[in-house]
Amino acid sequence: MRERSSRARRWIAAVVVLGAVLVLAGCRGPDNGQNSLKPDGPAAEKIDNLFVPVFFIAVGVAVLVLAGVVWVAVRYRQRPGKNENPKQIHGSTPLEISWTVVPALILVVVAFFTIRTIFDLAEKPSGDVVDVTVVGKQWWWQFNYPDEKVVTANELVIPTDTKVRVKLTACDDSLPGECNVIHSFWVPELAGKVDVVPGRENKTTIEADRADTYLGQCAEYCGLSHANMRFRVVAVAPDEFETWIKDQQRGPTVPFQSGPEDAQEPAGPAQAMVVGKYECTNCHTFDDSSASTYGPNLTHLGSRTTFASGYYELTRDRLIEWLLDAPSLIPMESQDCRKPGAPALDDGTCVGMPSFTKDGPGPVMSHEDAETIADYLLSLK
Ligand code: CUA
Repeated sequence: MRERSSRARRWIAAVVVLGAVLVLAGCRGPDNGQNSLKPDGPAAEKIDNLFVPVFFIAVGVAVLVLAGVVWVAVRYRQRPGKNENPKQIHGSTPLEISWTVVPALILVVVAFFTIRTIFDLAEKPSGDVVDVTVVGKQWWWQFNYPDEKVVTANELVIPTDTKVRVKLTACDDSLPGECNVIHSFWVPELAGKVDVVPGRENKTTIEADRADTYLGQCAEYCGLSHANMRFRVVAVAPDEFETWIKDQQRGPTVPFQSGPEDAQEPAGPAQAMVVGKYECTNCHTFDDSSASTYGPNLTHLGSRTTFASGYYELTRDRLIEWLLDAPSLIPMESQDCRKPGAPALDDGTCVGMPSFTKDGPGPVMSHEDAETIADYLLSLK
């Protein structure tokens, strides 16, 4: 009777383990469009070509070790009437040598290919190369095209089949004293992670094999909205890229007027709001696509598909919501740090768009004003 119940228990345990394995094998997060096992560019391919063999070597080692453990456990288990100690092999020279040398050889092989890949990835590309400087900010990305004199945010447009040399920095050269915290630049389908470190200039090369939009993500904890610090790499055909650059180099589709007398045209009442009433120009620019800014350069905002570091699709309703109360859409330290008694603006604790509700530090924005500004922003193609 007792034997039967213990056998039943063993069967139940086996079924539970097998069931758990099957259930876990079915685990697959939602397809978030980021998959480093589906490389779409040479850098990601090189990493994948290293990862896959190393993974199978590791699986092989795991299978051998686990099978050995199970075999020994079953083969030499205690049996009734067999109580003698097993043969003692402590200090066996052949065994000691083999389990030192075999893993060392495996590691030498893995190290050889790993180091080769690291050097390969670090190599400076030659020929037709597009240079981009990526500035990590809290919590968005600025993309500078130094040769083309174009500055944009959160959507890195690149030509397909072209090497793009990405210089990564957390200090904005064109804004003296503007240094940010550590971020990490990662587009899983195109390349591995590279840290963005204040005071350093890291470099990486990305290249997209086909025209598509690749989702990127900050991969280093950088404060309140780290998880929302996304971006996109938009790969387009080379001629389309040329057109895009020319469009970006053009002045704003709705220019500012120089004097306050004629400020109502053509930017209209929106200009008085973004310059005067709500002081948006403290952090943003609306009429110079070559300027680095504290907040994203908005000169051609209407040409982008997303905003807020790629977190929101660029729609009129969302933009209005954002203008009124951005910190309620993405957590930011600007929430209440500009209220009376809060730490000063310039000690670095006030980060992000302020709120323009009655609880915010800025003036209260009417819905009508938000609509006016949103329509103006969306017209900046
Ligand atoms: Cu930037 Cu995390």
